[in-house]
Amino acid sequence: MKKIFIIFFIFISTISSSYSHKHYPITVDGGFDISSGKLLYNQNCASCHQSNLSGAVDWKGLDKDGHRKAPPMNGTGHTWHHSDETLHAIIKHGLAKLVKNYQGKMMGFGDKLSDKDIDNVLAYIKTYWNEEIYNYQLELSKSN
Ligand code: HEC
Repeated sequence: MKKIFIIFFIFISTISSSYSHKHYPITVDGGFDISSGKLLYNQNCASCHQSNLSGAVDWKGLDKDGHRKAPPMNGTGHTWHHSDETLHAIIKHGLAKLVKNYQGKMMGFGDKLSDKDIDNVLAYIKTYWNEEIYNYQLELSKSN
């Protein structure tokens, strides 16, 4: 399991995006449209990650098809261990394009959401994070 994650993150970090990275880090205090992010989150993400961002019940287990369940976005999972650039790539491309033979359920939203939309969703997600992890992740995102 650990090995899969390592391969996965090396892969993500090699993805080069034509999208300017000047907008990182994504903050909750201006520059991003949090209410639009909330709306888009509820329309596109809440079905799996829940409208209160708590993730699937018992998210560390597998669902009945053997897939991993949707993790929480509210700061209790590990989402905040990833930089804005990585999170943006996961949401845009999904894991299917990033991980060879991926058979999970996190598909990309690049055809539905613009880069700006994705950043607004991330800004909304960050409103759920406590100060400590918010600041930690902000520092992480400044370095790329
Ligand atoms: C069909 C269900 C489903 C939908 C809809 C969905 N996700 Fe996911 N998402 C997952 C699953 C399952 C995972 C765990 C990935 C895995 O292990 O395969 C995941 C993983 C993630 C991750 C990585 C989490 C982490 O903690 O490392 C992020 C970020 C994410 N989703 C954001 C979103 C956003 C934002 C949306 C809406 C635009 C969305 N997801 C919509 C099922 C979904």
